[in-house]
Amino acid sequence: MRCDILTLFPGMVSPVLDESILKRAQAKGLLNVRIINIRDFTFDKHRTADDYPYGGGAGMVLKAEPVLKAVDFIREEEDLRILLMSPQGKRYNQGMASELSREERRIVFICGHYEGIDERVKTYLSPEEISIGDYVLTGGELAALVIIDSVVRLIPGVLGDSTSVEDESFNQLLDYPHYTRPARLRGMDVPLVLVSGNHEVIRQWKRWQAVNNTFDKRPDLLDETALSEEDMKILKEIKEESEK
Ligand code: ADE
Repeated sequence: MRCDILTLFPGMVSPVLDESILKRAQAKGLLNVRIINIRDFTFDKHRTADDYPYGGGAGMVLKAEPVLKAVDFIREEEDLRILLMSPQGKRYNQGMASELSREERRIVFICGHYEGIDERVKTYLSPEEISIGDYVLTGGELAALVIIDSVVRLIPGVLGDSTSVEDESFNQLLDYPHYTRPARLRGMDVPLVLVSGNHEVIRQWKRWQAVNNTFDKRPDLLDETALSEEDMKILKEIKEESEK
């Protein structure tokens, strides 16, 4: 994954990129992120990146020209895919993460701040607008980091175990419960099946737990997901049980 984060607040993003899996992915050359300060593309004496809105109203608006100059600069070298972080965007989900993990172009994240961004950034660049949820953040930086984090972990070689990505939440269903040592903790035991050593029974238990968890907490996901025959059988049993 190659990307640029365009922001007025580089300090909001760099610490997150310097920890844990994102840090390791960069060390392995699987993630290349550049943090670009939009203010570096202002050329007036005061390095003005924002201004009052035409027509009045609350707050300041991020100026278009510095953002466009930054994008022009990056585009000189490479083909780009441009994403604008915005609560008005298309709602981000795992399917979009998966699609972005296969993107060959450099991805540019434009992070607005203040009340908004001059509309001509959209007119000129026609970016894909993406929202990470129905709430308003102070800026797009956290949204860009959420997207980068969720995409990077899908890139082969980033996580240690290649099966671990397929195994868990939102591939289709929610995850099954996990346990680690000790086997008994404050009177609570690990489910016996997990220490049985019978891999097929353990696999079935995990499947059952995943379907049950999803039915309990996010039944809406079951409508969107193409279930395997085994999962449909489990779901039928769970539904019958819940109607008793
Ligand atoms: N900027 C402000 N709020 C946002 C959101 N919910 N998603 C993406 N970018 C944003």
